[in-house]
Amino acid sequence: MQSLVEVKDLHVRYGRFEAVRGVSFSLGRGEILGIVGESGSGKSTIAKALTGLERPSAGEIAIGAKSVQMVFQDAVGSLNPRMTVASALGEAIAAKKTKRTAAELLALVGLSSAALGQYPRELSGGQCQRVSIARALACDPEVLIADEPVSALDVSVQAKVLNLLRRLREELSLSILLIAHDLAVVRNVCDRVAVMEKGVFVDYGGADEVFGHPKSEYTRRLLAAVPSVF
Ligand SMILES: Nc1ncnc2c1ncn2[C@@H]1O[C@H](COP(=O)(O)OP(=O)(O)OP(=O)(O)O)[C@@H](O)[C@H]1O
Ligand SMILES: [Mg+2]
Repeated sequence: MQSLVEVKDLHVRYGRFEAVRGVSFSLGRGEILGIVGESGSGKSTIAKALTGLERPSAGEIAIGAKSVQMVFQDAVGSLNPRMTVASALGEAIAAKKTKRTAAELLALVGLSSAALGQYPRELSGGQCQRVSIARALACDPEVLIADEPVSALDVSVQAKVLNLLRRLREELSLSILLIAHDLAVVRNVCDRVAVMEKGVFVDYGGADEVFGHPKSEYTRRLLAAVPSVF
């Protein structure tokens, strides 16, 4: 599998505090890699380093993709409340010179063109997240970094948005880095998984391998906390 993202021994510090301490991973084409871990473990910091929002203090990030886009937890907040869906998508289309129309982008994320004239406040949380994903797709990204894209959504809606990500991976050969709190999310959706604790990966490998035979005590504790799922 061709790697679109290759990270070697990444370190990121905020002043004297080292939030990411020597993390290595790769993301192949059409692959979904999950990063799971407790709050403050450094997941978003990795996403920020990949998108250039934070500079690594050491290590290497090699990105083979032409375009990397990000999707955030707060879908409603990431959309301009004064812009209709048509203008939000139109803006992205104009900026990225994509060949897709707004209606095509909506169709990709399972929304009808009836949404074009609507404002974010007229949409559900799940619909807003679909619109932000559509906007991210405007430039035909090869890699999508989704930082807790379903954490703010109702459980029933979470499954639908996750299914959408899986479908996009199939249809567009999209590579996805999926950051999540919920083990069930990464277990059901991801090909490979990294479990993060205090700035380091304590487990990393195929989803079945990591959850079937966790190396770290931390992963075992996470698994024990959600017995109903496993
Ligand atoms: N801009 C910043 N300045 C200083 N410290 C920061 C900054 N951003 C994050 N941190 C610290 O770095 C650590 C990792 O933060 P990060 O946001 O990467 O965690 P996370 O795993 O994404 O957590 P969450 O699950 O809550 O989103 C935390 O201890 C956090 O307080
Ligand atoms: Mg975070």
